[in-house]
Amino acid sequence: MKILVTGGCGFIGSAFVRMALARGAEVVNLDKLTYAGNPANVADVAGNPGYAFVHGDIADPDAVAGAIAGCDVVVNFAAESHVDRSILDPREFIRTDVEGTATLLAAARDAGVARFVQVSTDEVYGSIHDGSFRETDPLRPSSPYSASKAGGDMQVLAWHHTYGMDAVITRGSNTFGPRQYPEKLIPLFVTNAFEGLELPVYGDGMQVRDWIFVDDHCAGIWTAMRDGVAGEVYNVGGGHELPNIAITRRVIELTGCDPALVRHVTDRPGHDRRYSLDTTKLRGLGWTPARSFDEALGETVGWYRDRRDWWEPIKSGEYRAYYEAQYGGR
Ligand code: NAD
Ligand code: DAU
Repeated sequence: MKILVTGGCGFIGSAFVRMALARGAEVVNLDKLTYAGNPANVADVAGNPGYAFVHGDIADPDAVAGAIAGCDVVVNFAAESHVDRSILDPREFIRTDVEGTATLLAAARDAGVARFVQVSTDEVYGSIHDGSFRETDPLRPSSPYSASKAGGDMQVLAWHHTYGMDAVITRGSNTFGPRQYPEKLIPLFVTNAFEGLELPVYGDGMQVRDWIFVDDHCAGIWTAMRDGVAGEVYNVGGGHELPNIAITRRVIELTGCDPALVRHVTDRPGHDRRYSLDTTKLRGLGWTPARSFDEALGETVGWYRDRRDWWEPIKSGEYRAYYEAQYGGR
């Protein structure tokens, strides 16, 4: 099997590339190398004879047509992925997450690809006070990011309905692990803790997220890719629901940083209060998350402790302008 993985130089995409190669697939990795795309994330597989890298944009039909030739499956990870950046400026989110998905779908149809896998997010459902979202629940995205991901999902379902495209959608929950760009909660707080910088908790910190380790998320996507029914959606959640302030306390324990670094700052506009996924459907295909949250978080913190060579260059570049725009005067 030859898989076109888009966004394979990002956090989850690079873990999926490693998993796919280890499971005997060939991989073509199409990545635009935005601020979040890092060739170092796949440096360990660069010499693998089953791996090829194509530098290109999923919204560029020519780049996509070249990369997709000969591929059996497309797994679309490529996206603008950070909610706070979408609040600062949503334009690239619409271009990549909606237009890029539609461009990929057209190329997949033209190339006769057997299956299209859209990697989506639990955020398309919006916030839930009690209980857990099922795949049949309506989409009520709150942020420009989640609205753009919902637009991608709707394109995929429309292509299945209209053209008979064999497509499945996975909706994953908050993912953590090595190689996550230090703008997201866990890598931001872990690296700030190691640098003695403030840990900026939005609002009261009682917002709940459902955490999943990156390899468990990838295994869920693999299961949906292999065994999912065309036209269906599969939730991929870790089932480890925690308020942000509890995550913050664990980061303090694991890094040994000064608890006085915690600072409650102005809340994110439109902040979703709680996410929760019902994963019965994917579990019915035999998938189950393998890692305990505490063990995986400890491993993740250890990775960032050991790999300052990975994150220090990131935090000194474009990142500084973003950090000032996002947190300055907050
Ligand atoms: P990321 O930001 O770490 O990586 C995104 C990758 O996509 C980068 O390598 C980037 O260069 C590439 N990319 C961006 N725009 C592109 C374009 N136009 N053409 C080609 N490549 C492009 O993202 P991530 O956290 O690894 O998320 C991957 C996917 O999983 C996204 O679709 C995201 O919506 C989804 N998701 C993420 C999470 C999470 O917690 N991180 C949870 C659920 C779903
Ligand atoms: O739920 C899946 C989604 O999880 C993915 O689709 C997104 O790509 C991914 O970015 C993530 O979105 P969140 O907005 O939930 O993740 P983030 O790490 O930005 O924030 C997690 C929680 O922590 C959220 O409630 C906001 C809060 N937070 C975040 C940051 C960066 C803070 O309190 N302070 C911060 O500095």
